[in-house]
Amino acid sequence: MKKDIISAPDLKEARKRSKENIDIIYSDLVIENQLFNYARNKKYLLKTFGCQANVRDGETIAGILENIGYVLTNEPQEADLIILNTCAVRENAEDRVFGEIGHLKGLKLKKKEAIYAICGCMVQQESITSKILSTYPHIDLIFGTHNIHRIPQLLFEVINERRIVVEVLSNQGNIIENLPSKRSDKLKAFVNIMYGCDKFCTYCIVPYTRGKQRSRLPQDIISEVEQLKKDGYIEVTLLGQNVNAYGKDLNLEIDFAKLLHLVSETHIPRIRFVTSHPWDFSQEMINAIKTLDNVMPFVHLPIQSGDDDILRKMGRRYTVEEYLTTYNKLRQIDKISITTDIIVGFPNESLEAFNNTLKIVDECAFDGAFTFIYSKREGTPAALLKDDISEEEKHRRLSLLIEKVNYYALLRNKTYLGEIVEVLVEGKSKRNEDILSGYSKQNKLVNFKGNINNIGKLVKVKINKAKSFTLQGEEIDE
Ligand code: SAH
Ligand code: SF4
Ligand code: F3S
Repeated sequence: MKKDIISAPDLKEARKRSKENIDIIYSDLVIENQLFNYARNKKYLLKTFGCQANVRDGETIAGILENIGYVLTNEPQEADLIILNTCAVRENAEDRVFGEIGHLKGLKLKKKEAIYAICGCMVQQESITSKILSTYPHIDLIFGTHNIHRIPQLLFEVINERRIVVEVLSNQGNIIENLPSKRSDKLKAFVNIMYGCDKFCTYCIVPYTRGKQRSRLPQDIISEVEQLKKDGYIEVTLLGQNVNAYGKDLNLEIDFAKLLHLVSETHIPRIRFVTSHPWDFSQEMINAIKTLDNVMPFVHLPIQSGDDDILRKMGRRYTVEEYLTTYNKLRQIDKISITTDIIVGFPNESLEAFNNTLKIVDECAFDGAFTFIYSKREGTPAALLKDDISEEEKHRRLSLLIEKVNYYALLRNKTYLGEIVEVLVEGKSKRNEDILSGYSKQNKLVNFKGNINNIGKLVKVKINKAKSFTLQGEEIDE
């Protein structure tokens, strides 16, 4: 089949950052009649990997497809369109996707007319897109993170001309508003407040796959939250790679602390936000978390390493001491929960550096942490560093770290024993029909005995058991 490469990914281009303002496009979806006719009652399957930004993109993709006329299926065999929405942050994330792409080959033999597409962060890398094109001819469509709104046109080309279509833009990205979306939950919603990232931590691919930092206008964010509240949503999570840097790219008198105040005034019951970068955390933001009742006492504050030399090589722009200053200020907020991300095995991380990371975990006693082994990402500055630490040693360090992290998670959870916490009841527990589950204000998963009629509501639960990853208890009447 012929290939129609409209534009191909280019990591060098993706690295560029200009001073020019970005465009905000209030989009109207353009859908050809022919595509409507083709897609009516055809079935789509969408599989999303990666972070909340990708999950939110997945909701937009689903919204666009259903506008075209597609209906959802979870059965790969019956899907007329399968889209894999991919993540590039670590090699194991990519390996999983390549496994899935391999499976699609067999399916295609049985269902020749089906269309298979790959999108998301992975295909923003030229090496990946070339590999897909050369090795997996059963993939019909590749599009990136900046052109989701072009799905109708791109699908139209695939269907109409039966060509392999590739369109991956490596520019810094725009903001596209007003796209349809099919939210995956009825109680909790993700709200993008910004796209992209300008931090360029030396190990990280995200600034290349997601483009320049672009903050949405406050009025667009607020109207989205107001609409969600009208639709019955109880909780919003404000999304950005560095929410604390919100507004720095806008010529407006706005920053993240002010945005928190504005979102709080919508009176949506619960507001969360991820991810916080220690570098941009101001006192005003800490005050906002402390004083605004509907801003939840939960902060995910990645430290990455407890060693100044490694932090400098990672390009994180703070020292351990600076991190601790912010951390300790946040800890003073009543009943706050703070989690983190940690990478072990950054190139040539010495034993001493790793021990410094263990030390900081002892000092902070985090409520939880995501822990990772460093994964080399082609095109990033850290990929040029030679590494002499064995895989075995990296795994040993990870195990030691996880053990410590779990110890403190349990210790923190035990402080809730006998306490009453507020839980948003999401439904029956996955493991036990008689048990309900939901999250506390601190983002702790709580499994409890309670009234099934309260699903979708905020209830009070008395905690009687604490584990490393969950709390258990019983609902009480107020
Ligand atoms: N913007 C967020 C995190 C985005 S990626 C922040 O800066 O905190 C989520 C996590 O993946 C990171 O915090 C980091 O711990 C991890 N990560 C990113 N790139 C990685 C890599 N190359 N190898 C291993 N872990 C990585
Ligand atoms: Fe990656 Fe650093 Fe940006 Fe987070 S802040 S997305 S780790 S470059
Ligand atoms: Fe992965 Fe892209 Fe998110 S690389 S972590 S899906 S921004």
